[in-house]
Amino acid sequence: MASIEYPSSSASVSRQHQADGEASRQGPMVDLGVEDMESPIEDMETVAKLKKRLEHVVRLYNSGKLLFPRALLEGLHQQIEAGKEEVCITDLDDVPSTHSLKVPAICSDFATTYCIGYTSIQLLTYIHPSFPTMILSDQAPVSILYTHYPSHPDGTLEEVCAAFDKARMEWLESGTCQELQSHLTTMRFSCHIHKIVAFGLGTLAKVQNDHFSTRSYVQHAAIATMATALKERGINDGKEIQCYAQDPWYDETDVEFLKSIGITVVNDPKGFLEIDEFTLVFSVCPNIPVKQIVADVQWPGAMIWNTVSEGEETKQWRKRLRSGEEFWMGPLITDPDSKRVCDMVSHYTKAPLLDLEDFFGDLTVYVK
Ligand SMILES: C[S@@+](CC[C@H](N)C(=O)[O-])C[C@H]1O[C@@H](n2cnc3c(N)ncnc32)[C@H](O)[C@@H]1O
Repeated sequence: MASIEYPSSSASVSRQHQADGEASRQGPMVDLGVEDMESPIEDMETVAKLKKRLEHVVRLYNSGKLLFPRALLEGLHQQIEAGKEEVCITDLDDVPSTHSLKVPAICSDFATTYCIGYTSIQLLTYIHPSFPTMILSDQAPVSILYTHYPSHPDGTLEEVCAAFDKARMEWLESGTCQELQSHLTTMRFSCHIHKIVAFGLGTLAKVQNDHFSTRSYVQHAAIATMATALKERGINDGKEIQCYAQDPWYDETDVEFLKSIGITVVNDPKGFLEIDEFTLVFSVCPNIPVKQIVADVQWPGAMIWNTVSEGEETKQWRKRLRSGEEFWMGPLITDPDSKRVCDMVSHYTKAPLLDLEDFFGDLTVYVK
């Protein structure tokens, strides 16, 4: 079992345990370096509490305790499907708590809906330099959060179809498409693939700054390329390859359009429950820790997702400047790797996807 380092002193508590900073991806930034971190925690009682909490979470994780067990997601899915107003979710200590699926009044000025919160092991075990005691709130790996989705104008179904045809042509003629086909026709599969389940490919129907997102269109077009390449090799065992996609930003036009091209939209967390050992999971820069969830729920037959960095990840929070404003940026992205993810991918053959067109970013094909 992979292990995580324990904090060993007050200094290491303040320096070793830091977390995510998704907000940091855009805009010019000035790195002020780790020496500018907030001062170490002086209060020994708080340090002791932090250590105790961290050691507890780390001990559970290292003992093999799953953060995202299939049964927990199944239970949550059933409660949502049953139309409950409140759902019960257990935390890492198996303590249940109740969450409203209706936006509480206190959140109504910014939120219009709930979403499922997935907390990576990094966020569960790292300390924010400005709010170190935040970690004492016993955050659960799965919870309910309140949010709103971007309200860009919707393109019509006809506009989406036309934009998709254009992006698909561009995709089919691209070097990245050829590279993907080449990997899927040459890599050795030890099992059949009957399903493709995609995560976080983004909405097609929303128009931002007068244009659709080419990346999202191409990523959806790539699903058909994968299915065709696998079928031509007989990796599908003669069965139709079922294609599913999960992204909470999809709207009705997306659902209708994707259905027309053979992709079934599923609500969170159903996508994770669709995964079995004959599934290819496709995920591109999702806003949730897809890799860590999949590593806990079910090892699939193949994955095409952001390259797992198997080396040491940076653990430092950094103070950055954007538009003259200081803010803390964590080194860890929304879909971070973990020891468990690294352990899982070590059982797969890998081939990085050269993507000069930047349709995906840094992806790797993993095959069992
Ligand atoms: C940074 S965008 C990436 C979009 C696109 N893949 C790209 O590369 O441009 C992150 C995406 O993750 C999606 N996402 C957030 N929560 C999700 C969830 N629970 N399941 C699947 N996708 C999710 C967001 O809606 C968004 O479309």
